[in-house]
Amino acid sequence: MGLRGSVHVPGDKSMTHRAILFSGLAEGTSRVTNFLSGADCRASIEAIKALGADVELEDGVLKITGVDDVRSGSIDCGNSGTTMRLLLGLLAGREGEFRLDGDDSLRNRPMDRVRIPLKKMGADIEGDRAPVVVRGNELKGVVYRLPVASAQVKSAILLAGLKATGKTTVIEPELSRDHTERMLPRYGIAVEVLDTDEGRELTVHGPAKLRATDVEIPGDPSSAAFFWTAALLVPDSEITTKNVLLNPTRTGFLQVLRQMGASIEIANRREVAGEEVGDVTVRTQHLHGVVVEGAQIPSLIDEVPLIALLATQAEGETVIRDAEELRYKETDRIDSVASNLKKLGADIETAADGMRIKGSHLHAGEVDSLGDHRLAMMLAIAGELVGGVEVANKEAVEVSYPTFYDDLKTLKNRMNG
Ligand code: S3P
Repeated sequence: MGLRGSVHVPGDKSMTHRAILFSGLAEGTSRVTNFLSGADCRASIEAIKALGADVELEDGVLKITGVDDVRSGSIDCGNSGTTMRLLLGLLAGREGEFRLDGDDSLRNRPMDRVRIPLKKMGADIEGDRAPVVVRGNELKGVVYRLPVASAQVKSAILLAGLKATGKTTVIEPELSRDHTERMLPRYGIAVEVLDTDEGRELTVHGPAKLRATDVEIPGDPSSAAFFWTAALLVPDSEITTKNVLLNPTRTGFLQVLRQMGASIEIANRREVAGEEVGDVTVRTQHLHGVVVEGAQIPSLIDEVPLIALLATQAEGETVIRDAEELRYKETDRIDSVASNLKKLGADIETAADGMRIKGSHLHAGEVDSLGDHRLAMMLAIAGELVGGVEVANKEAVEVSYPTFYDDLKTLKNRMNG
């Protein structure tokens, strides 16, 4: 029996983090609606509270009154790389001493990618891995060319630029998600955007203060992607995900689905918080293998586990390359995706920067999310396809999609329209 019906996926994780962190340091009271209340974003809420912001939840609206003169202390970023990296930028130029820590996964993730450019601005940051200590310092603007396409790194530098003197410019040779530069103007911060032969140049002028605003968060395409995959693979399925963010820096996965031969319907296109959103409908379809590489990668980086699963069911071979960044996520997602799918019978070879996957027959088996939320959900979808898939550490979904299993269940109920 197929999966049928519609789902309102939770608010976008990247946008929720930014709305919380910017509001927490803004002058006045901001209201954030349709935010994601997963563990990652709760870490951002706890962080701004520790810094002295006031946070209230009223009728599903997050009311945040920010502080500019923050309180020193320890901050637990949990599993959230976005919380830690954006905070490093936000705090580097503020008076005080801050110790940022996280869980075992976050303690293994590199912070030098943020620490090195912030040091060029004058920051005093100790440690490449959490716990990391930041002592607020006077900063000066720099011009920094990103060595890897990373929205977290880009954001950290621009946010440090708000407390720096002069111009801070980030040059990104390949586009990464652009929520920071889209959202900052709503908080009263001008961001100059220039497209040049070298890539996109983003500039802020410091010092500048954030001013409170209201933000409505659209649904997360990286969460909707699990249901698009389920609809394509589980026979006789049709799923509509409503109110999904369609920002072009986030829709690489939809393009890959089309390259694989899927036809996708997008209805009710409209604008929410300066972002395009729509309702996306996907039905079961025959797929073929593709090559996914280069500038495509940043726009689908969190969806690669799903591309690997789809590739096991596609005709021919799929190659994913230029995706070494996957090795620095919540788990090493090249190894963790491949080793788990192999346990279910997939034909996958890994490389330093990606994988090669052949269409194969999957079977039941025991797998492990290793505490990685995106793996837990991808493996649950594999279980919908073949049955008998036991996923250890399935509660990891709490990080980005606490109601994932409930939403999946409603799609199995034929009464859901
Ligand atoms: C994010 C950026 C991406 C992504 C992560 C969220 C963000 O990481 O993988 O889930 O909100 O800026 P990188 O910027 O390190 O590529």
